[in-house]
Amino acid sequence: MNENLSGKQLEDINFLKETIPVLIRTSTELEKSNQLLQAKVVGLEKELSRKNRLAVIGEMAACVAHEIRNPLATIELYSSMLQRRLADDADSAGVTDKIISAIHTLNATVEDILSFAGEINPAFAPCDLRAVINESLALAARHIENKNISVVTKFQDGRMDISADQYMLQRVFLNIILNATQAVDKNGSIAIAATMDNAKASVSISDNGCGISADASDKLFTPFFTNKSKGTGLGLAIAHRIIEAHKGSIEGRNNPEKGAVFTVILPLKN
Ligand SMILES: Nc1ncnc2c1ncn2[C@@H]1O[C@H](COP(=O)(O)OP(=O)(O)OP(=O)(O)O)[C@@H](O)[C@H]1O
Ligand SMILES: [Mg+2]
Repeated sequence: MNENLSGKQLEDINFLKETIPVLIRTSTELEKSNQLLQAKVVGLEKELSRKNRLAVIGEMAACVAHEIRNPLATIELYSSMLQRRLADDADSAGVTDKIISAIHTLNATVEDILSFAGEINPAFAPCDLRAVINESLALAARHIENKNISVVTKFQDGRMDISADQYMLQRVFLNIILNATQAVDKNGSIAIAATMDNAKASVSISDNGCGISADASDKLFTPFFTNKSKGTGLGLAIAHRIIEAHKGSIEGRNNPEKGAVFTVILPLKN
């Protein structure tokens, strides 16, 4: 039969014989990439809807917090008046103290929610990293003393000058330290180390507490994730936003021996 075909037709047939398997291979590869892309789109859609959901939850929470703030201030005012009036009656004074302490806790939660929902614009200024960390420790003193926790700090020699919003950073370290005080048993220990080179400052805060549970490990910085009965789940989410606004990084993992370690890295040139 080949005898009846012209040279040109034979050439075309050979060309097709070579081309068709290549086309089939290419089409299979395209099909595979298409499937991969579709899986990626589904993943991105899920991520987007998670982010939208979080944004909506954040907005709702901020509205509720905002509405709670004013009546709470009124309750605080009248409770303080009551506290003064009942100061001489030991039983009643105990009750009013408890009411006022609960109001302070609620106030802190409301402030956390409002600051989480708001814009984070650090006021960068020169500050000493070791002073910032010491200030955070001072703010956590009551919690540290209550559990008789031993705190060991190891700072690089000399001042550790950085450019940052010192109050925001104080809050970051305070939140991490408070978590550590909640994770350890009585007489537990917390170790804080800070070092600096030309490019970055790093601070690690480790504790010998219960360690990060499996369900918490990939949700540490997710707003409202908590496994504490009295937690809001905003401490690390706020810390993450603040460090992000400083163009740094924050991570938490378990220590191989015991407990957890949180590391904050801050670039020195903003
Ligand atoms: N040092 C730690 N050891 C073990 N688990 C921790 C530690 N720090 C954080 N976690 C886990 O991460 C979760 C989230 O922490 P985060 O500080 O954001 O919220 P919270 O402490 O639960 O509540 P809040 O800080 O708002 O009072 C905690 O509930 C806990 O499960
Ligand atoms: Mg916390």
